[in-house]
Amino acid sequence: MAAMEPRLPSLDELVIAFDKGLRTVFAPAQSVRPSPGDGLVEAEMTDRQRALAAALMRVNHSGEICAQALYQGQALTARDPRAKSALEQASQEETEHLAWTERRIEELGGRKSLLNPAWYAGSFAIGALAGLLGDRWSLGFLAETERQVVAHLERHLGRLPAEDDKSRAIVESMKEDEARHATSAIGHGAAELPEPAKLGMRLSSKVMTETAFWI
Ligand SMILES: [Fe+2]
Ligand SMILES: [Fe+2]
Repeated sequence: MAAMEPRLPSLDELVIAFDKGLRTVFAPAQSVRPSPGDGLVEAEMTDRQRALAAALMRVNHSGEICAQALYQGQALTARDPRAKSALEQASQEETEHLAWTERRIEELGGRKSLLNPAWYAGSFAIGALAGLLGDRWSLGFLAETERQVVAHLERHLGRLPAEDDKSRAIVESMKEDEARHATSAIGHGAAELPEPAKLGMRLSSKVMTETAFWI
């Protein structure tokens, strides 16, 4: 069956993907929805609290860079047009998360991770490989990624300063969106990944989150 053969991207698609990657990493992200923290008052925080909040939001921003790259990589090699458009739609929503976290880092006086180009390249390659395994596995990978992100964001809600309502509102909204992305992937026929694959994903995201906290 033609749908089961590996789908390799054309040169045009590769050029477009490369351009999107450069824009994701280097250009400011745009959001259609207002940032969830917009209507809230900036809290009084100590320098230490602001630095902690900025570092946590830097980790979340890098996570969104990875999400962009995974989705774009998967969309590039996805076979089923419906899976492809679901991936592209989700990638659009991740752009908003990227914009919200980016702006929040600025408000807190922090900076983005210097390693974002590396996070993007690595995640893009993983996404493209997942896409080559077939849509069911690719969507399974997506669903598991989103579940792990939800758990990660939940942990960040426990670590962010209690006063920092603006950052907390952003993380809460992202958590809701990510949970919806997982449900949508399952709705599109995601396979359940084997336990060792889930463990490997947890370990590799731990490397990213712990490094991006500092660098
Ligand atoms: Fe996201
Ligand atoms: Fe997501």
